[in-house]
Amino acid sequence: MDLGITGRKALIMASSKGLGKAVATELANEGVEIMICSRNEEHLRSAKSEIETKTGGVVHYVVGNVTEQSGRENIIQSAKAKLGTVDILVTNSGGPPTGKFEEHDAKAWESAYKLLLESTVEIIKGALPGMKTQQWGRIVTISSQAIKQPVNGLILSNSVRASLLGLVKTLSNELGPYNITVNNVLPGYTETERLTQLRGDTSNWDTFTKDVPLGRVAQPKEFAAAVTFLCSQRASYITGISLPVDGGWIKGI
Ligand SMILES: NC(=O)c1ccc[n+]([C@@H]2O[C@H](COP(=O)([O-])OP(=O)(O)OC[C@H]3O[C@@H](n4cnc5c(N)ncnc54)[C@H](OP(=O)(O)O)[C@@H]3O)[C@@H](O)[C@H]2O)c1
Repeated sequence: MDLGITGRKALIMASSKGLGKAVATELANEGVEIMICSRNEEHLRSAKSEIETKTGGVVHYVVGNVTEQSGRENIIQSAKAKLGTVDILVTNSGGPPTGKFEEHDAKAWESAYKLLLESTVEIIKGALPGMKTQQWGRIVTISSQAIKQPVNGLILSNSVRASLLGLVKTLSNELGPYNITVNNVLPGYTETERLTQLRGDTSNWDTFTKDVPLGRVAQPKEFAAAVTFLCSQRASYITGISLPVDGGWIKGI
């Protein structure tokens, strides 16, 4: 299937590793010129070189912390300078700390809000004017399966990320008239550095796979395929959804 986005320009947040890098790679494979970002220039240089080698695509990078206003402004300014209009925006960040309710003070809740919601809102604001002017845009937020079925011991993620359900649906209503789609993709357990950290030194993946009907964790490129489709011209009539890529882990219908 030709996804119809060759020559489009994409900004992918938190994308030197893991899910963000996998999405950047798939988009580059489709002929999209991409800009990746994260806090660490060494990670970014290595990701740029890996993606260019794998795809032959054009990859720019910018250093920026998505939790800081100055970092976000730097990211948006660099994207405008290198890409012009951002046609496709994929929001992402690192995950908040694990822990139960009584382990987190007010500061931890504030940090989770900045990491997961404020970063998403402010980056969308920065990329939106160009999409509205050209009457075409794709916005995809990366969140978690935890927003449809809470994961024990991840109360910050379960609570703060759930706000994205309301954000994405409401924004899709507001931006539909501009031919901009807004969707949310919910990763299940996917083999990245983050999951390796959560897994600790256990020698197998059983904790993560026992409730997954497909019986395994995902590979990042399986997640990235779903995001890339939603970023495509072919997904032109899909907006306002929250799509799990979880191997069937969420039990609700
Ligand atoms: N993997 C899973 O199984 C899974 C499941 C559900 C939800 N998620 C969520 O999906 C998101 C991505 O997860 P992942 O598995 O891809 O994590 P990862 O492998 O740890 O990669 C995180 C990426 O985000 C960048 N990053 C982290 N904090 C940042 C910040 N403040 N500003 C800019 N860049 C930042 C990191 O780069 P630098 O270190 O260079 O900044 C890195 O490129 C996380 O929110 C995670 O909680 C993951």
